[in-house]
Amino acid sequence: MRHLEGKRIIVAISGSIAAYKMATTIRLLIKAGAEVRVLMTPAATHFITPLTLSTLSKNPVFSEVISEESWNNHVEMGLWADAMLLAPATANTLAQLANGLCDTIVAAVYLSARCPVFFAPAMDLDMWAHPATQANVKRLIDHGNHLIPVGNGELASGLSGEGRMAEPEDLVGHLHHFFGESQGKPEVQQTMAGKKVLITAGPTHEPIDPVRYIGNRSSGKMGVALALEAAKRGAHVHLILGPSVLNPAAAHLQVTRVDTAREMFKAASGAFEQCDLAIFAAAVADYRPEQTADQKIKKTEDALRLDLVKNPDIAATLEKQKQAHQRLIGFALETQAGEEHARQKLNRKNMDAIVLNTLQDEGAGFQHDTNKVSILTAADNKLRRFELKTKEQVATDILDVAEQWWPVKG
Ligand code: C5P
Repeated sequence: MRHLEGKRIIVAISGSIAAYKMATTIRLLIKAGAEVRVLMTPAATHFITPLTLSTLSKNPVFSEVISEESWNNHVEMGLWADAMLLAPATANTLAQLANGLCDTIVAAVYLSARCPVFFAPAMDLDMWAHPATQANVKRLIDHGNHLIPVGNGELASGLSGEGRMAEPEDLVGHLHHFFGESQGKPEVQQTMAGKKVLITAGPTHEPIDPVRYIGNRSSGKMGVALALEAAKRGAHVHLILGPSVLNPAAAHLQVTRVDTAREMFKAASGAFEQCDLAIFAAAVADYRPEQTADQKIKKTEDALRLDLVKNPDIAATLEKQKQAHQRLIGFALETQAGEEHARQKLNRKNMDAIVLNTLQDEGAGFQHDTNKVSILTAADNKLRRFELKTKEQVATDILDVAEQWWPVKG
């Protein structure tokens, strides 16, 4: 269990009989060298005592945001952790977290946390199978959290079926595996430690009606590769990811899922001021339908006319708020006269670098695992051409160029 050595883990417990398993879980975490802080919902304290858990974790246990003696700083706790383990996660707590409700310390820390969050549901089989619970679980996964699957077996109600919380060894195993994965590769120098990186990635979907949308073929692979590489180099990464099948997770990676260009714009605007480096890798839809029909449009007419309006240009808008210490990288996907267009884009969007890829190169662009890029940098007006490489290697090249700007002086 060496991957957990020195890791800071928040164990958040909600009110289920499975809470008894958390004493063993905490012992295993401590034994593996992790530092543990325990949070409980008020209901959880009926199932296992805070005294037991504070003794095992060697830290005070919090079950209130505000108690008579103190106000517990949920933001500080959220930022402290390398991972948060919510176990057992009851149907009620899942519903709260999936919907952003915040009336317990568990929910407050969850909303403040930038670290990966693992949740292990525990409930009766019918509660687990209910579409409301399943929708909440899906939502939490879409928000970038990691589900630790339920088991099948005897339940506290006496019924038997799906809904049993994973066993302590399994909970700890998930964390161990996660940190192993993100650490198992050759040591990467923490060359971006302390830097905040904002990355937009993936396509956007612009709804026509409840079932149809306008979109593009972007997979999100390039932006996700950049996010994982920057996190590996020690940066705090905020990835704003459009509809993509990818579901990346890593230490120091915060993922916000969005669908439309306007949602992406809002999320990116919220994170922009804080970042040192922004990489606009998303293939944002330039236009959206002016109207979105409430109901599915029937095919009664021979022709259908859609009026489109322009979406906000995220990169071009945020560039106007650029502070002296910030550096910006844009992407340009051109089907013709790439270099010339990239130079124009560099100037027009006031980027520090533009990554140019063309759809003409075999194996480059959307959907592929490989890409062939050229990077044009503003400071020296130099164009560096690279070979066809995996998107992970391309991410390395792009961040190597960006790192030359560090340490960035304001
Ligand atoms: O103008 P064009 O779409 O080719 O510009 C590409 C660059 O601008 C990319 O970095 C892309 O992520 C960004 N962009 C954006 N918002 C848009 C359109 C493009 O951030 N609406």
